[in-house]
Amino acid sequence: MCGIVGYVGKRNAAEILIDGLKRLEYRGYDSAGLALKTDKGLLILKEVGKVADLERMLQDRAPVSNQGIGHTRWATHGGVTLANAHPHKDGSGRFAIVHNGIIENFMDLKEELERDGVVFISETDTEAIVHLIARFYSETGDILATLVALQKKLRGSFALAMIQQDFPDRIYCVRKGSPLVIGSGNGESFCASDVPAFLPYTRNIQYLDEGDIAEISLQGIKIWDENGEPSEKPVVTVDWDVTMTEKSGFSHYMLKEIHEQGMVLRSTLKGRTADGRISIDQELGWDAETVSRWDKIHIVACGTSYYASLVAERVLEKWTDFDIKVDVASEYRYRHIRCDSSTLAIFVSQSGETADTIAAQRKARSEGAHCMAITNVRGSTLAREVHSVMLLKAGPEIGVAATKTFTGQMAALFLVALQLGRLRGTLSPEEEERLINEFLQIPYKVELLLEREQEIRGLAMNYADKSNFLFIGRGISFPIALEGALKLKEISYIHAEAYAAGEMKHGPIALLEPEVPVVAVIPRDGLYEKTLSNIQEAKARNAPLIAICTEGDTHIAKYVQAVVEIPWTDEEFTPFLTVVPLQFLAFHIALLKGKEIDQPRNLAKSVTVE
Ligand code: AGP
Repeated sequence: MCGIVGYVGKRNAAEILIDGLKRLEYRGYDSAGLALKTDKGLLILKEVGKVADLERMLQDRAPVSNQGIGHTRWATHGGVTLANAHPHKDGSGRFAIVHNGIIENFMDLKEELERDGVVFISETDTEAIVHLIARFYSETGDILATLVALQKKLRGSFALAMIQQDFPDRIYCVRKGSPLVIGSGNGESFCASDVPAFLPYTRNIQYLDEGDIAEISLQGIKIWDENGEPSEKPVVTVDWDVTMTEKSGFSHYMLKEIHEQGMVLRSTLKGRTADGRISIDQELGWDAETVSRWDKIHIVACGTSYYASLVAERVLEKWTDFDIKVDVASEYRYRHIRCDSSTLAIFVSQSGETADTIAAQRKARSEGAHCMAITNVRGSTLAREVHSVMLLKAGPEIGVAATKTFTGQMAALFLVALQLGRLRGTLSPEEEERLINEFLQIPYKVELLLEREQEIRGLAMNYADKSNFLFIGRGISFPIALEGALKLKEISYIHAEAYAAGEMKHGPIALLEPEVPVVAVIPRDGLYEKTLSNIQEAKARNAPLIAICTEGDTHIAKYVQAVVEIPWTDEEFTPFLTVVPLQFLAFHIALLKGKEIDQPRNLAKSVTVE
């Protein structure tokens, strides 16, 4: 969590850093701060609250400076206070740093530094880092040697940017365990936790590896490895552009991202099918011989990415003959699930930086599994560590609640399932062609649904005052019920639970009463009749019912108060459609309740700590 940014160039650093921090605010929004290099030394400016609060404070005060670092915080060590806000300085005030990550041996380091007479003024682990930098620099007089020694001393994860009062036009960065990317423009250089921070100025990126140290300056970029040896990193031009990081006329990023889902599906599918056949052989580098070595598939993820994985599990069961296990990364990493060279382990993460997912991947890899990442972020830690990668083509997702990347993840997983089905011979060419033809129709069907936003807004108005919701679904609709409940709770703070509809009788039915709406995900599929029975059970307990059903289902209206119809599709593809009304429902309920939809309380977009 936390976002860091650094700039060296000829422009007004404060403006560029504030703009960058706003683009990184999805990573945390407890406090924000800048360190600017001025003729009179380092100027530190901080504010508790959002970047906009810091910007307001700066209006009359920011001196013109062409070099600085910035931070937006998601509190871990120490409360949300001004003293704990970054940047942090050493005792002399010559060094200032911003940090994303956690220093695990912070207490030992603090005690050691205090024994040497260092006085701490914050409760953060970050402050120990800046005092150590000052100490090593006074011992060596060499900044590279200092940063090499620093890495040996710190345990945990960190991405750092550091500015020093006496260093001409340069910032130093270190990356170990937390994301950090470098950008180079014309006579200016950037560093940040994520590319959108400097997308208005450059699309030329260098991705740092574990332990890398970088100097960004007016002259360009220098990179060393953790031992201080020079290291070459290719410059990659990213295909994201700045309009992708703007709201483009929408009131919220989340709303914009919901509306982008047809486009996301189209670009995720583009070039990956041809003439009714799946066409990702080269991208994944698998052939029939490769996949014959596997008999198990593990899919591991967190949150919404986990729910996309649960959808994929049901499809893989149908289209392939593997033994499949799906788990949340925070459990998987500590379990004793059999994993070996006959396992394909797929890690699904929008950000590619989720700490538990990365740790789970490292475990599976060490046990001999073939590891694959499905992620939206090229160059992310996860993408760089695995054997095979499939990138979503979703563009940056800024709303903390994932929407378009959920759709993109399901699409990518379906493509992998089709590929495995073909290579294993469990899907006939006719079946493959039939599925792909329907898959290619899904973006249009999603767009038809997106036009019905106002209808779902009307529904939201009827239910926004409720304090508890139950979501139910069966089969492939169960993970959609889970995702619908997650969306509602994370942005509206309404208590929502999701159950496999058949489980209702085993406990949750006790919750039902006229004040507890039940949202039933019930497309026309093989389990329709079964879910309908569960709806009747809920109706008998006087719970108000909303059904997400297939168009033309006149039967269901007898049992429910409201219906939202989705276009007809094959059972496997219904999740792409049933999730859309649930995203709109959560959004409009949260809007009616006046919540901060794009930045819900206590959450951060990428969870880079365990
Ligand atoms: C989704 O709305 C959540 N914000 C969250 O559950 C998220 O999906 C989870 O933290 C996983 O993130 P990742 O996909 O970047 O790994």
